[in-house]
Parts: sequence; structure tokens; C-alpha cells
Amino acid sequence: MEKLFIVGLILHGCVADHYTTKPDFIKTCLKSDPNFDDCSKESVQRLFNALGPGLPDINLPPIDPLNIPKIRILQGEGPVNVNAALENVVVTGFGKTEVISSQVDSKNYAFFTRVRVPKMRIEGTYDLKGRILLIPLVGNGLCWFEPSNMSIDIISDVKLYEKDGFSFFNVTKVHVKYNIGGMKLHMSNLFDGISSLEDGTNAYLNSNWRPVSESLRPILSKTIEDILLDFMQQIFHNLPANFMIEDLKTHFTNNKKPRKGSD
Ligand SMILES: *[C@@H]1O[C@H](CO)[C@@H](O)[C@H](O)[C@H]1NC(C)=O
Ligand SMILES: *[C@@H]1O[C@H](CO)[C@@H](O)[C@H](O)[C@H]1NC(C)=O
Repeated sequence: MEKLFIVGLILHGCVADHYTTKPDFIKTCLKSDPNFDDCSKESVQRLFNALGPGLPDINLPPIDPLNIPKIRILQGEGPVNVNAALENVVVTGFGKTEVISSQVDSKNYAFFTRVRVPKMRIEGTYDLKGRILLIPLVGNGLCWFEPSNMSIDIISDVKLYEKDGFSFFNVTKVHVKYNIGGMKLHMSNLFDGISSLEDGTNAYLNSNWRPVSESLRPILSKTIEDILLDFMQQIFHNLPANFMIEDLKTHFTNNKKPRKGSD
């Protein structure tokens, strides 16, 4: 059982007004187009590019660098048994996200997105007590992790709803599966800074990066899912769905025609 709380990644969604005209960075696709998947890949790539520096119009902070005040990790069973907190977390690298493919389900509009993040760095202040790969670890101080060549498959469930005569995607669930090509990491001040133990442990964790990263998989997956869910909800509550997919079939009245009385 793992528990994870991301405290403080609160995006102030209710304050800003949603887009009422299509922003420049949006590429609109037609689901009926036989090349929809190619168009959609390009469209999602442009969206990621715009997210790097953030979208102040809808109060969306940058995703590169991404600041997370606090991540709390409690994981009680399995190869990882940790009680840890990461504070003042800065994640760099999402700005270079490459969209590999993008598909949208014809019936329920679920998004299937595959992206690649060539180089990511996660820095912060950790406070840790627990075991990873049977090694007891205790310490607090600065740390960094650098996963490389991360590919992420993202499945997003959406529900359509109507607001102010526009349709919007309500992103209800995000599920991710990821793979990484390598990982480097460093934790300063392990074991109260007994440097022989600290250096040896860091060297051990780095040379065993594969099982270390496997043992952190549930935690990392959940962290990525929480971050993506927050961002996607914030974007799609503010970006009318027809700006992305023009020929969306909704059970609402056609958005483009002003609604008439009761005829
Ligand atoms: C990145 O990973 C993919 C598979 O996930 C692999 O095909 C590709 O060669 C890797 N690229 C680099 C630069 O390591
Ligand atoms: C989005 O979906 C969630 C979960 O089904 C629901 O609680 C929420 O009210 C929905 N929001 C809107 C704006 O439809």
C-alpha cells in the first residue's frame, strides 16, 4: 500500500475566465479526417510547447521548471519501505517533451498519448527514513534525480460537459505507464553526513539504478499521474473542446448555432 500526497500543487482554476476565442498555439483537428492521428500529434505537441513557459491567461504556471512545494511519500510494504518528504521540488525537462503519438477514442473521447522526455532533473530537499532494496536509509538534505529517455504512455478519461454554450472536456482520470533509459541520483547528507557511508550508498544506488527505479515505480507513477491530472483538468476546463476537435459529437446543442427558444 502506498500513499502519496502532493501538497500545495494547487492550481487556481476557478479564478480565470476560460478561452472564448481560439488561442494561437492551438491546432484544430477533425475527427473525421483520415489523418486525424497525425494532426492530433502535432496539436498536442503545440500544446506541450505552450505549457513550458505557462499560460498566464488561464493562470497556469510553467511546467518547465515545474515547482512543487511538497511531496509526501508513505510506502509501507515491498522492496521500498519509506517515509519521506520532498520539499521545494523543482522539476526541469518537461519543456522538451516530444509527442510520439496521440489518439482519441471515437466513442468516449479518451486520449491515448505517448510522449518522450529526453532528460529530466528533479531537485529538492528530502527527509527520509526507510529502506530501499534492503538498505536502511536515513537522512535529510539536498537531493537530485535525473531520469533519462523517459517514455510515458498516458491514458486520460474524459467526460464532456457544457458551460457558457461551449463544450469542455472534464478530465476525470489519468493513468500512466512509463519506461526510463537510465537514472542518476544523489542524496547529500545521508546518515547525518557520515561521508564514507554516504558516498558508498550513493554509488550503490547509482550502479543499481534499474532496481532502484523499479522499486520507486508506484510512487513515481502516482506522482506523474497527480501532476498530469491537475494540469490537464486546469487546461481543459478552460479550453473549449471544439478548439481541439472541431467535429466533436456532443449530446448538447451544436455550439456554433445560438440556441433558440423552445421550438
Ligand atoms: C529511448 O528509448 C526508446 C525506447 O523506449 C529507444 O527506442 C531509444 O533508442 C532510446 N533513445 C535513447 C537516446 O536512448
Ligand atoms: C467532472 O467529473 C467529476 C467526476 O465525475 C465530477 O465530480 C465533477 O463535478 C465534473 N465537473 C464538471 C465541471 O462537470
